[in-house]
Parts: sequence; C-alpha cells; structure tokens
Amino acid sequence: MTLQWVLDEIRKRPGTGEVVPIIDPVTEEQLTEFTDCGAAAVDEAVARARAAFDSGVWRGMPGSERARIMWRVADLIEQYADDLAEIDSLNTGMPLAQARAIMPSSAELFRYYAGWCTKVDGDAHDVQMTGGISGAHADLHTYTLKEPYGVVGQIIPWNGPVFIAWGKLAPAMAAGCSSILKPAEETPLSALVLEKILAEAGVPEGVVTVLTGYGHTAGAALAAHPGVDKIAFTGSTEVGKQIVHAATGNLKKVLLELGGKSPVLIYDDADLKTAIPMAAMGIFVHSGQGCICGSRIFVQRGVYDRVVEGLTKVADTVKLGGPKEEGAAIGPLISQKQLTRVMGFIDEGKEAGVEVVTGGHRLDRRGYFVHPTVLTNVDRGMRLYQQEIFGPVVTVLPFDDDDEAVTMANDTTYGLAATVWTTNLGRAHRLAKRLESGTVTLNCQLVFDHAVPVGGYKQSGWGYEYGRAGIETYLQTKSVLTQL
Ligand code: NAI
Ligand code: MG
Repeated sequence: MTLQWVLDEIRKRPGTGEVVPIIDPVTEEQLTEFTDCGAAAVDEAVARARAAFDSGVWRGMPGSERARIMWRVADLIEQYADDLAEIDSLNTGMPLAQARAIMPSSAELFRYYAGWCTKVDGDAHDVQMTGGISGAHADLHTYTLKEPYGVVGQIIPWNGPVFIAWGKLAPAMAAGCSSILKPAEETPLSALVLEKILAEAGVPEGVVTVLTGYGHTAGAALAAHPGVDKIAFTGSTEVGKQIVHAATGNLKKVLLELGGKSPVLIYDDADLKTAIPMAAMGIFVHSGQGCICGSRIFVQRGVYDRVVEGLTKVADTVKLGGPKEEGAAIGPLISQKQLTRVMGFIDEGKEAGVEVVTGGHRLDRRGYFVHPTVLTNVDRGMRLYQQEIFGPVVTVLPFDDDDEAVTMANDTTYGLAATVWTTNLGRAHRLAKRLESGTVTLNCQLVFDHAVPVGGYKQSGWGYEYGRAGIETYLQTKSVLTQL
C-alpha cells in the first residue's frame, strides 16, 4: 500500500458528485483528485452499515474474538506505519517524524479498546418498589445492559487524519457499532489504507465504511440521515452547530469535539527553561492546527518580558518546511483557504493596533507557510483573541494574580484545554479547579493518553472521547426490571 497506490486508488473510487482536487500544501500543486461520493453513496453506506449491525456479525461476536481482530488491526498499523506516515505527511505537509510518532500510539489505542471488548458490563440492582400506580409493594430484580447505538457517522477533519480516524473507529468497534467514516475532503488518502487494514485484519464487511466527499455533500447527508443513530464529529464549532440542527430530524445522538482557544498561564516561579519552549511549541507545532494548541498565553508580570523574548526566539529560529526538507519541525497550513483565514485574523489585528512582536506574514516561498507569530497589546474583545485561528499565532498578555489570570483564561466561549506553569503545587491544583476546561495540564503541555477522557467544556464540545468514557460514547443503557 504505497503512496503511488493510494494516489491512483482514490481516482478510481466511484462517485456522482464534483471532482475534488487534493493539493500538496508544500508545493501548492495537485497531488491527485477524486469524485465526491454523492448522496446515493451515503444511502448505500447506511444500508450496508445497518445490515452489518442487524446481522449481529460484529456486535454478536464474542468480545474476545472482536478483541483478537482489533489486536490484528494494531499489528497491521505497525506493519504499515511507514506507508501511513508517508501518506499523511504528504497530504497534510506535517514533518515525517511527527506523522511517524503518531503511529505507535494509534496501534496502542486499538489494543486499549480491544481490552474493552470483554468489559462492557451493566449493573445489577435489588430494589423494593413502594407505591407506584398500583400502590403495590414489589421486590424487583433489575439490571442494565450496555448496548451499541447502532450505525454511527464519524466526520473528521484534516489536521490529524490517521490519528483522529482511529480515535473514532476503535471505541465504536469495541462497542459493537457499525461506523461510516467521512475523512476531510483535503485529506482522504490515508483512510484508504485504513480500509485495507481493517479488511486484512478480518473486520467483517459493513462494520466500517469510508465515504470520500465534501462536508456540505457527504457530511451533511450523513448528519441528516434518518438511518444514522449517532454522529461523532471533530471540527469547527460552526459545523458542530450545523450538525446539531441536522440531527433533529431523527434526534440522533451527537458527539462533538470542537475547537479551542486554550489558555496557558506562566507564573514567575515557573521553570522557565521548560515552560517557554513548551509553551512556544504548544502553539507553533503543526502550525497551530491542533484543537488543544495554547493560543492565549498569560504571563505573570515579573517574567513577562523574559517570556515574550523567549517565545519570540523560538518563533524566529524554529525551521519551517515540508516533510522532505531537512530539519523542518513545522509544516505549512493545510490549504489556501486556511492561509487566507489565518492572515485575515492577523491583518485585522494589525489594523486595530496589535503589536506584532514577530511574524505576522506568510513565508516568501511556495507553500502555505505562515511565520510563527507573537502578538501583544491585544484587546480582549478582538476577534483574534476570542476565536480559534488555527494557525501559528499566539497572543501574550500580562497578569498580576490568580484572580486576574483565571478571569482572563475563562473569558472565552471555548473550554478545551488549559495549562498552568508554576512550581507552587497547591496553586497549580487550585487553578485546575477554577479553569473552565475539559483538560488541564500542570507543568506540561500537549500530553495525551488514550486511557484518559477528553471532552470540551462550554462550546468546545459535547461528550467524551478516549478512556472508558470513549467507549460509553458508543453505548446506550437499557434497564430491565423483573418482579420477583
Ligand atoms: P470544518 O469543520 O468545516 O471541517 C471538518 C469536517 O467537517 C470535514 O470532514 C468537513 O468535510 C466536514 N463538514 C464541513 N461542513 C459540514 C456539514 N455542513 N455537515 C457535515 N460535515 C461537514 O473545518 P474547516 O472548514 O476545514 O476549518 C475551519 C476551522 O475549523 C479551522 O480554522 C479551525 O478553527 C476549525 N477546525 C477545528 C478542528 C479541531 O480539531 N477542533 C479541526 C479542523 C478545523
Ligand atoms: Mg468548513
């Protein structure tokens, strides 16, 4: 399953919609193209997924056998890791080392959820009902069953194609659901390899179907489809809201993993030698195209100048370039659309009097590269302070005490990730309670483990992924009551 195989294979996929070009964000040239699957393909995929679910071929298989197949998937992820990394790095422009680093954790994610296949348990309750409609007294033996939702649509973005796809598929498979995965139109290539891996591992036909198409066509049809029981979506808050509306037709359940505007608090007692480079890469990594990137840094006044200077130094020295460029630590933005969007935020800030300490421009070369950008003198009402930019752009503001830091950190509609850098342990944990965020990292950043749940407070999401909560996302509870 080489790169050339995937570039050819995607052209051959049947479709009835528009032709969609796939652009290399490093060269701005077309890599290949495919035809949007079209609405009929969505109906077919739902019918296939439903047939697989209703047949019990997967959900009815003993958990230990499903686990065995999921372990095989993990082994195959390792076997094809180099191909997957090459394809994802070409398609997204991310450094090859970064794409490679994702593969072992993707394999471990499958092994983790393989373990859950045999541990989907309900609870038992002995209860004595008193009163009720009949006024009778009854001894009841009751228990709960955890059952898969059924057919789930999984719509994912372009910033981590393999990683996010597996993160959606593994818990749904462990729960016994049938998945229809729609990768982003910008990055559908690695999904074709995922399809092959699942088939090779012995996942029955119809348990996972990949749909390649646009969001406004395939994605929207999936979100509105009466035959889909749940949608799991990662992407923009704007589309998340559209999905909620689309879901009302059959009141399908919705999981949303949306954007962030994550605060990073750096105290004057922090270990700055670690905090500064971590906070810098916490936003510049992947050109800021990560939902948990720390895009608002708040620094205690005593070390403010030092931190701004340190962030600027990283911004000016980190090497940008494509996957094939020696020493490149950061790739480009994904598309011309994202470049226009990011530059729009920056230009608006400049006009409003924001101080551009460094960056603020695209690189003078081919590809959608933006110079890592440090902004100060930012008004908290500004769009660039309030909205997710999804570029290598950070605002830095000073604070004096905890109350001021918390007020500023919480002053956004998002609540995905927050970070505190301080050597005062008590303060760190007190702040962890006060920050309105689904994840708080103390003296570390960009850390993640598939055993730990991730979810958004406020408009950063609905529901949880990863960990035990991640499989529960794909399970519903049935209560069974028995008169003794
Ligand atoms: P998007 O939210 O439009 O795209 C994400 C996925 O949703 C893609 O698969 C797309 O095809 C699909 N989609 C788009 N419209 C849809 C619809 N009406 N119904 C169903 N599915 C639909 O994100 P986009 O436009 O690529 O990026 C815009 C901004 O969104 C970024 O600047 C960033 O702020 C945010 N974003 C956040 C991500 C995250 O990880 N939280 C990932 C990607 C984007
Ligand atoms: Mg969009």
